[in-house]
Amino acid sequence: PPLDNVINMHDFEVVAKTVLPEKAWAYYSSGSDDEITLRENRTAYQRVWFRPRILRDVSSVDWSTTILGQKSSLPVYISATALGKLGHPDGELCLTRAAAQHGVIQMIATLASCSFDDIVDAATPEQPLFLQLYVNRDREITRKYVQHAEARGVKALFITVDAPQLGRREKDMRMKFVDDGAGAEVQKGQDVKKDQGVARAISSFIDPSLSWKDIPWFQSITKMPIILKGIATAEDAVLAFEAGVQGIVLSNHGGRQLDTARSGLEILVEVIAALKARGYYPSPKFEIFVDGGVRRASDVLKALALGATAVGVGRPFLYAFCAYGQAGVEKAIQIFKDEFEMNMRLLGARTIDELVPEMVDASTLTSH
Ligand code: FNR
Repeated sequence: PPLDNVINMHDFEVVAKTVLPEKAWAYYSSGSDDEITLRENRTAYQRVWFRPRILRDVSSVDWSTTILGQKSSLPVYISATALGKLGHPDGELCLTRAAAQHGVIQMIATLASCSFDDIVDAATPEQPLFLQLYVNRDREITRKYVQHAEARGVKALFITVDAPQLGRREKDMRMKFVDDGAGAEVQKGQDVKKDQGVARAISSFIDPSLSWKDIPWFQSITKMPIILKGIATAEDAVLAFEAGVQGIVLSNHGGRQLDTARSGLEILVEVIAALKARGYYPSPKFEIFVDGGVRRASDVLKALALGATAVGVGRPFLYAFCAYGQAGVEKAIQIFKDEFEMNMRLLGARTIDELVPEMVDASTLTSH
């Protein structure tokens, strides 16, 4: 179907499913085990209701914001998703080019199909980029990778902490991994198991021994802000703040890791309460992000009202470029912008700062 017919994020998924090779669809769409968390990522947003305010002169509304000191035209960043070339020959470059056009920030995946340098080269000189890091058992490889990224101007380092082992994505596991050139430039020190799907084939270099004790080492090798991606409890949010990192992503990895883990939105409520109780929130030095299941600007507004700085979006942008290349991603961003305009007007919030907890009723969020 022509791109003009696409009017929301769900449409991109429908089109991607029809155009993608079976292997790519299995890898991208799957969640772990019974996919309960994958579904919960959507339904959690449906349990939060708006409390809109009226008569506030919403003739002009502004949804632009700042994420980790970087300007962003949306309170949304493109989260890291691996292996973009399974779905489109230009892979992640579709994201980079669209992000440049629209002032959106892309998080580059360690396991991107395109090389890190090709992605940075495709960006404009002033375009902010973030990097997602899987930590290698061989720390020298990780040190060089991080320092190279910093030298090339990457603005923040998101260390993925919820994947000491990759989850069992059974749809994906039923596919045999065939190296067809879409693979990431996989890092050394891994034994590639080819009989258990794409995810497992490419991820065996990841160090399961990673612990809180390693955080000072990361802080010693880079001046980039460090964000821990994959925090799932108030306890770990408090530890992250006390470890002196600059932020956290409340995430279950798009429902691809521990099944029946909670949604980022639900985690957010307890995290904000725990940080507030200790005087850690609000803090200009610690930003809180949420990802998983965000498909509408209204979802984003709920997370922001409850205390998030911005949200990450994975699959919708991935499906958009698989189906339509760079133009698809631009359209996805434009849909978000249109939805922000309407929803902020109807909610009575003229700026991101005006989104407050009183604008949502989250009382049924934790009743499942
Ligand atoms: C991911 N995600 C991910 N996260 C990460 O830290 N490193 C990675 O390599 C990947 N790869 C990846 C591949 C695919 C196909 C998907 C769908 C997801 C997780 C991603 O960054 C983000 O947390 C989720 O995608 C957010 O959920 P939604 O927006 O996809 O529902």
